[in-house]
Amino acid sequence: MPLGHYFPLQSVCMPFPVNRPRRLRRSESIRRLVRETHLEPSQLILPLFVVEGENERHEISSMPGNYQLSINHLVKECELVHSLGIGGVILFGIPDQKDELASQAYAANGIVQRAIRAIKQTVPNLLVMTDVCNCEYTSHGHCGRVVDGDVDNDATLEWLASAAVSHARAGADIVAPSDMMDGRVAAIREALDKNGFPHIPILSYAAKYASVFYGPFREAAESAPQFGDRRSYQMDPPNAREALREMELDLEEGADMLMVKPAMPYLDILSLARDRFDVPLAAYQVSGEFSMIHAAARNGWLDHDRAMMESLIAIRRAGADIILTYFAKDVARVLDA
Ligand code: PBG
Repeated sequence: MPLGHYFPLQSVCMPFPVNRPRRLRRSESIRRLVRETHLEPSQLILPLFVVEGENERHEISSMPGNYQLSINHLVKECELVHSLGIGGVILFGIPDQKDELASQAYAANGIVQRAIRAIKQTVPNLLVMTDVCNCEYTSHGHCGRVVDGDVDNDATLEWLASAAVSHARAGADIVAPSDMMDGRVAAIREALDKNGFPHIPILSYAAKYASVFYGPFREAAESAPQFGDRRSYQMDPPNAREALREMELDLEEGADMLMVKPAMPYLDILSLARDRFDVPLAAYQVSGEFSMIHAAARNGWLDHDRAMMESLIAIRRAGADIILTYFAKDVARVLDA
């Protein structure tokens, strides 16, 4: 029997000068031919922030090029996103009224619910995802119902299920819970099924870490917690095995797709998840990751477009099928150039 049957030929590696890996890097045409990973606008989801009012468009100071938009501007932005071939948008609502019960998160006429309807009227084929969470809607800025100074898990599930159903009713294509309560995927799945939405997929923010890199987002979404932090529900950054367990549980509860968040500081988690699970994997390149690249580029320390493309291809290479990124429009422009 030939040796190669037992030992793949690669392991009988011929040394230099027979082997010269540089041969396959000589020209762009060769490099293109052997490239292992690709980035397409269709793989990207652009996060958008929607506010009440008419003709509102406020730039988020820590996230240049990103805005809080009222519905009329949001719809225009969605037309542009659609024309660029971007995979879709994920919506974050900023209500005028916040309260202890996050009531605007699941109100039939809440800001996100109205935004979805408006988008679907004008750009029906644009994929609309919604972030299912309460932190933008509570007066205290926590992701759920606060009881005795901490977020009460089971009481929060009801809000999340109602919010997801209200988004589906308004026309959302995919719901994405980001709160990190235990059992939320099962609660949302059950509520969707009961209310006539068995066909709406759940993208679970399954491995979401308590990260400093959400800082700029909290300015954008006006959702910084008024006391304490999110460490009793979001994951502890040093843990990897726990992330796999979170993902396993979410799949058992009925998640259709899984997310790792943030992206670049957690590429190891993405790679482990890629090996273990066959469902589509998403990664969220969060606000702080975006802002760091922007700040360095503004200082002339990094080339903006190259840093953007390299960061995103790294996230794809680690195993993400889908990337949520504030760079989505810039990437579409670079790839089209
Ligand atoms: C809501 C939510 C957050 C982000 C996405 N969904 C903020 C948080 O958990 O504090 C962060 C996204 C980003 O930083 O770009 N819970």
